[in-house]
Amino acid sequence: MSTSKPARTDRALHVTGEEAPISAILHQHAEQQYAEELAELARVDDRQRPPNWSLSPWAVRTYLLGGKLDSGFVVSPKYIGNARLIEIAVATLATDRALLLYGIPGTAKSWTSEHLAAAIAGDSTLLIQGTAGTDESAIRYGWNYARLLVEGPSPAALVVSPMMRAMQTGKLARIEELTRMPSEVQDTLITILSEKTLPVPELNMEVQAHKGFNVIATANNRDKGVNELSSALVRRFNTVVLPLPEKLEEEVEIVDRRVASLGQALELPAEKPALEEIRRVVTVFRELRGGVTLDGKTKVKSPSGTLSTAEAISVINSGLAMAAYYGDGQLHAGDLAAGITGAIIKDPVQDRVAWLEYLQTVVKERDGWKDLYRACHEVACHEVLTPVNRGE
Ligand SMILES: Nc1ncnc2c1ncn2[C@@H]1O[C@H](COP(=O)(O)OP(=O)(O)O)[C@@H](O)[C@H]1O
Ligand SMILES: [Mg+2]
Repeated sequence: MSTSKPARTDRALHVTGEEAPISAILHQHAEQQYAEELAELARVDDRQRPPNWSLSPWAVRTYLLGGKLDSGFVVSPKYIGNARLIEIAVATLATDRALLLYGIPGTAKSWTSEHLAAAIAGDSTLLIQGTAGTDESAIRYGWNYARLLVEGPSPAALVVSPMMRAMQTGKLARIEELTRMPSEVQDTLITILSEKTLPVPELNMEVQAHKGFNVIATANNRDKGVNELSSALVRRFNTVVLPLPEKLEEEVEIVDRRVASLGQALELPAEKPALEEIRRVVTVFRELRGGVTLDGKTKVKSPSGTLSTAEAISVINSGLAMAAYYGDGQLHAGDLAAGITGAIIKDPVQDRVAWLEYLQTVVKERDGWKDLYRACHEVACHEVLTPVNRGE
């Protein structure tokens, strides 16, 4: 490894990161991480591609859902669930309507958006994060004020937004958490989506979108009421609702795959977790969020947190870190207890009651779950909780 070690200072100068070895990047963009799959798909893909798409809709579907190519090459599944939803999403992006991925947190909206952009445009980085503080310039353009003051408005003083860049290059712009942006900022999208034009009155010019341009937005339904989408804007989107995984085994597979790839990226010195351990965590989360045990026999109280697949992934992942650095390298109940408890107890009073009750009535009684019961009970009773869990 050390043979290829470069002179450090050299590389640090490259703020774009282009010079850094790809394996040193903590979170690679989808198009980097899956470059091989995308290249292979492009090679075998002889179907018609919409203007300026890197792949045909067939190949994009295969990239998202996985499959085996005629060449024998295996494409890993990115989205696990209803194939129809992905088809609708991909087909939408080939029309003049934009795509809105909608659903509760942790249902792979951002994940799907990133992979769609990587497969269709070869670039998932044209990203605008929606927050209460997002202003128009994040969507339209801004100014380099130093230059603006010296030169007056000029193309060189313009700070191009990811949206403008996507229009100029015929790519996909991604908007995260669209409904968190103030309504008037959301409304700047209307012209862009209906006229496919971004006027720059200061320069007496406009940017006309090139073919291939479109927008993928995500929004949480938990954010409802924050800033509803105006009806004018809703009409310009096709909405695809991403659901929680329907079956236990589906959710276990998602967690298993993500944990494996995260563990690799973090270089955790731990064994791959036993599927049984993942299944237990996923079962607990599914039962708590559903309000009933999987056999349908016992009603349980649902805690206030989301407890989605994404939480299960992070609980297993932090359990693995515990096992790797403080345990024997294998994931046991004791490594998971703190993470599970932290994910479940968001409200220090009511969630705690719900969790203790569930531990007593369900976990304790289940065959082979005594270790999990003991570990979680101890954590829940002894308040080994983080400040956040204590509501500080
Ligand atoms: N159906 C699914 N298929 C594949 N991965 C999923 C699925 N549901 C959740 N995930 C995983 O959950 C994690 C969180 O997803 P994310 O896109 O951040 O959620 P959201 O944006 O909906 O809040 C991702 O790592 C993703 O891989
Ligand atoms: Mg998201």
